[in-house]
Amino acid sequence: MTEDDQKQAAAKAAVAYIEDGMVLGLGTGSCAAKMVDLLGERVQAGLNVIGIPTSEATAKQATNLGIKIAGFDQVKIIDLTIDGTDEVDPQRRLIKGGGGAHLREKIVASLSDRMIVIAEAKKRVQQLGAFKLPVEVVRFSAPALMPKISALGCTPSLRQDSKDDLFHTDEGNYIIDCDFGAISEPESLALTLSTMPGVVEHGLFIDYADTIIIGTNDGVEIIGA
Ligand code: A5P
Repeated sequence: MTEDDQKQAAAKAAVAYIEDGMVLGLGTGSCAAKMVDLLGERVQAGLNVIGIPTSEATAKQATNLGIKIAGFDQVKIIDLTIDGTDEVDPQRRLIKGGGGAHLREKIVASLSDRMIVIAEAKKRVQQLGAFKLPVEVVRFSAPALMPKISALGCTPSLRQDSKDDLFHTDEGNYIIDCDFGAISEPESLALTLSTMPGVVEHGLFIDYADTIIIGTNDGVEIIGA
């Protein structure tokens, strides 16, 4: 199976968990986009759900497919969130934010009864950190935070967009991508980053994912409850 096939298989398996009447957190990224496409098919066939999108891109995709979307002014609790990931380790800890949406993704995941993470096989790692950890920061703080974040043991770089301008998140912040190579203590790094003034949110998701669905060459592998 190609990586695309693996993503499709994981997305299809995740959509089977969706029930009529659910409030759904809709993730961001290429794998999540496949899930939203499949959800759109079910909605067009009569499924009644409300989606809380984790990015402007997902909101647009969902709306185009006829999926009802809402915000937290209308909905308080999410039954199920389905999202992709950049890395997942054996403890179901994640690095997310490759697409720059991890701030909204973490808010949505934190308000969800259940989070299912979908990914192709290469996202499964023994140790987090080969993927550069995205850290969303307030623009004002970025130059001051670069050396402070570097002192944590990584090589930081300010993310650029496709036009070589600085990348802005949906909330108007910058992202510092942090090359740690390997992260030996994700919990303590997460705490350190969370307590730095100017850091809005980092891409370490610890104790969020309940179920991981990995697309493999043989179908899907389901890890967790
Ligand atoms: C968005 O910011 C990310 O957290 C994505 O969910 C993650 O990067 C996975 O994206 P892909 O499925 O495109 O690899």
